[in-house]
Amino acid sequence: MRLCSLTCAAPDQGLTLRFGPRVQPEPRHASPAGCDSAGMSEPVTYASYLRIGELLALQQEPRAHDELLFVVLHQSHELWFKLLLHELDDAVALVDADRFPEAETRLRRMVTIIRQLVAQWDVLGTMTPSGYLAFRHVLEGGSGFQSVQWREVEFASGRKEPGYVDSSWLSEGERAALRARLDAPSLADAFDAALHRHGVVDVGEVLRARPDLALLTMLAESLLDYDEAIGHWRHRHVLAVERQIGLKPGTGGSSGAAYLRSTLTHRFFPSLWEARTNL
Ligand code: HEM
Repeated sequence: MRLCSLTCAAPDQGLTLRFGPRVQPEPRHASPAGCDSAGMSEPVTYASYLRIGELLALQQEPRAHDELLFVVLHQSHELWFKLLLHELDDAVALVDADRFPEAETRLRRMVTIIRQLVAQWDVLGTMTPSGYLAFRHVLEGGSGFQSVQWREVEFASGRKEPGYVDSSWLSEGERAALRARLDAPSLADAFDAALHRHGVVDVGEVLRARPDLALLTMLAESLLDYDEAIGHWRHRHVLAVERQIGLKPGTGGSSGAAYLRSTLTHRFFPSLWEARTNL
């Protein structure tokens, strides 16, 4: 055992497990340094490093059988959105630095993340509409429409909707995060700036496989992969929604599937899609 530094916080006494105590490890290390109340550090374990106790305490006792599936699906999406934003921010910085192959490695990971999120809709498909209706009322006005990280992904990629920042449900922290995303150059902006730096006036030039623009051509194709993967996610979402609630309005107050269908044509890099028509 090692002595903890004087700055170690006491373990969080307030954390209680409300769900499934049979299978959940105790949240032994609430402080990042893993200090016990005597100020001694404990050896790092799987559970302490990954904060498994805290993670598994985030799911409430399900009020209907399928609610746990619904909660896990949304919470895991938010974790993947977090990683997506992490990769996205780095991709922008790498494009800005003309480090295109490295930016592509980030994009490759982003695309792979989204593809496995697309596959997660299959799990939701195992829920019946009546299984969903058994707990849908507890959502009240809550909806994925209010997912701040999803909106951050959209803004940071290239689709910015300034009006969203005025939404009443946002906390001040969330509003500030979205404002910062609105103000920061997006991945689409970074790509446009890279084209400009390399003397490309018409984006169609990078699609004509000019040898001197090969790196930009490959980057452009990776951007398309990303846009396409997001498009697949949107399609699977609207199909999943129709499967669960038909044409009912959404809990967030929209027309439901009809609203989501209107988002299917959204693109982060519209010029790359349009350029194909003119080749
Ligand atoms: C039973 C399953 C689901 C249903 C019935 C459903 C329904 C809806 C509906 C109707 C909307 C439109 C806004 C509204 O009026 O509420 C919406 C938006 C949204 N949902 Fe879902 N959803 C489901 C699962 C999920 C999951 C698992 C996620 C993952 C995070 C998700 C993320 C989103 C996002 C990000 C939006 C905003 C889309 C946009 O505005 O572009 N949804 N959902």
